[in-house]
Amino acid sequence: MKTRLTELLGIEHPVLSAGMARVSQADLVVAVSNAGGMGCLGGVSFLPDALRAEIKDIKSRTEKPFAVNLLLPDVLTSDDDSSWEPVRELWEQLAPSDRTKLKGVEALLTKGAVQGQVEVVMDEAPPVVILTFATPPEFIAQCHAKGITVGALCGSIGRARQAVENGVDFIIGQGTEGGGHTGHVGTMALIPGLVDAVDVPVAAAGGITDGRGLAAALSLGAEGVWVGTRFIASDEAYGHAAFKQRVVEGQSKDTVLTRAYTGKPLRAFRNEWTSQWEEKAGEVASFPGQYAVAGTLVETGYQDGDLATGMMPAGQGIQTVHEILPAGRIVTEMMSGAEEIFRRLSR
Ligand SMILES: Cc1cc2nc3c(=O)[nH]c(=O)nc-3n(C[C@H](O)[C@H](O)[C@H](O)COP(=O)(O)O)c2cc1C
Repeated sequence: MKTRLTELLGIEHPVLSAGMARVSQADLVVAVSNAGGMGCLGGVSFLPDALRAEIKDIKSRTEKPFAVNLLLPDVLTSDDDSSWEPVRELWEQLAPSDRTKLKGVEALLTKGAVQGQVEVVMDEAPPVVILTFATPPEFIAQCHAKGITVGALCGSIGRARQAVENGVDFIIGQGTEGGGHTGHVGTMALIPGLVDAVDVPVAAAGGITDGRGLAAALSLGAEGVWVGTRFIASDEAYGHAAFKQRVVEGQSKDTVLTRAYTGKPLRAFRNEWTSQWEEKAGEVASFPGQYAVAGTLVETGYQDGDLATGMMPAGQGIQTVHEILPAGRIVTEMMSGAEEIFRRLSR
């Protein structure tokens, strides 16, 4: 199944695993890339030295293309302390055990850490970088000078057009069904609109969990898929067994678009913490300040399987996830499922 995207990335199958903070670490990336898709490291979770070690680990275990996800909004890259320094102060007041627990968000709360991530990426030059929230043209030009292909995650046509203008090589359109930070337009409406609006390849994201989703995405004009939630329920994903099991057992209506953990709309499992914030939505701090308000809850979902209050990003596609599987098998079954659909439809 060749598309402009598989050709651009040099991969066998048009299946990309999402760069999920915490969940997508080296094991998952290597498994997906070795299966012929493209794994993406959730780079945002790592302080610069740890990011370097993780990228080196991936390089030592696969020769296939892989990606690193970075978040480069001004609020995280500027030297202006006013937006995030209050968060850092709260961080410094935390007990040492809580700080250890929160190591996955420390890079978002530490001045200079995101710049450090950028330097590591320039040194290590992974084959692909995926940008979320912002697409700084200078950074993209630096990537291209190093031979790095750049994609951008977008939830609207306006954002996608801007990203292309800024120089990205392909777009990932993420519908509101998706887990994690997401917009308000559904995948079914977003993808054909994006395909019409930009001339670079588009991958579809949001609610895609199997061959049916891949076939549908290709029919909408996408040239690949970017899949998050399905890979939470994989052997190689980082995360507590209770979180993975919740994905396997959950219904689409169990997820909610909430600002309760980060300050930006994030699709996650509805629980006591998100319900409490539904009533006082006006008091939510802006990104990344709300991370400090949510405190250790940002990690207790992944680490302790705290279903009542812990953050557990997940998309509406959980409805069709029934089993925890090896990530490589998820890729190959998605491919065979889509191929079977196209065979059936052409008969
Ligand atoms: C647990 C989790 C963590 C995520 N973390 C990130 C992240 O760090 N950066 C990012 O760009 N997107 C992140 N996302 C969004 C994914 O990149 C992707 O767009 C989304 O999962 C696709 O929809 P799906 O979950 O329905 O497959 C995350 C999603 C999940 C479920």
